[in-house]
Amino acid sequence: MNMISPLPVAAPPADSVDIPAYSASGNECALFEKAWEKRLPLLLKGPTGSGKTRFVAHMAARLGLPLFTVACHDDLSAADLTGRHLLKGGETVWVDGPLTRAVREGGLCYLDEIVEARKDVAVVLHPLTDDRRILPLERTGELLSAPPSFMLAVSYNPGYQNLLKNLKPSTRQRFVSITFDFLPRDQEIVVVAQESGLDEGAVAPLVDLARRLRSLKGQDIEEGVSTRLIVYAASLVAAGLPRPEAVMAAIIEPLTDEPEVRAGLIEISRAALG
Ligand SMILES: Nc1ncnc2c1ncn2[C@@H]1O[C@H](COP(=O)(O)OP(=O)(O)OP(=O)(O)O)[C@@H](O)[C@H]1O
Ligand SMILES: [Mg+2]
Repeated sequence: MNMISPLPVAAPPADSVDIPAYSASGNECALFEKAWEKRLPLLLKGPTGSGKTRFVAHMAARLGLPLFTVACHDDLSAADLTGRHLLKGGETVWVDGPLTRAVREGGLCYLDEIVEARKDVAVVLHPLTDDRRILPLERTGELLSAPPSFMLAVSYNPGYQNLLKNLKPSTRQRFVSITFDFLPRDQEIVVVAQESGLDEGAVAPLVDLARRLRSLKGQDIEEGVSTRLIVYAASLVAAGLPRPEAVMAAIIEPLTDEPEVRAGLIEISRAALG
């Protein structure tokens, strides 16, 4: 007889006004939902400002899952995720870290820039991201079993990783993975207009400039202009700043510190926008 595996239980989805806006570029929403139903962890790869964090926030709200986001950095250790004993009013008390909270509450734990974290983080993630779905807490002696609604999502930007900062195959091969890229032109215009409040006609030249500058990635600039930066520029224009000043502050300055490259970018943007 077939065992029918019950779907993970989550809170009823939030009202649609509470769901962060996300414009899908493919089947990623369905894929996320299926991965969650099947209790599979998810890895999101893609350049900075391409919508990974927004996507996770959108899906967490859609599925009614509490979201625990951790921005990983090179000093982040396993204990920062699982928890530690802290001194409170002369007593030592155990305080759950965000990963432990997500496991206990059956929520979504999102580890942003996972490759930055210290190596011992993989040790706690491995038993959680295979079919065991367990989180051993050595310090408290507990062995937590993740409830069906718990999900782990991680992301990183493969663009500027060096070899040392790649995920090990044994970690990488525990995740269903999606690659993110910037949206097609017309869709990006709609998103930037919605995010910034600037009308689409005024957003279009900013998106076109950004797309032009993206083609310089790897030559003069390390990363292409993110959708985030276009939203910044459009928001400044919507607030009344002259367009050249907005482009300078929100697109060109964040891209480079090299005076020659900067001068070249200013030239390109003058030629494109006048
Ligand atoms: N598909 C999208 N739908 C809606 N908004 C988007 C989308 N893609 C990008 N944005 C906009 O771009 C901004 C940056 O996106 P987000 O913070 O999700 O990028 P990220 O991929 O997480 O970047 P990082 O790697 O730097 O963390 C968002 O705040 C939002 O305004
Ligand atoms: Mg992010």
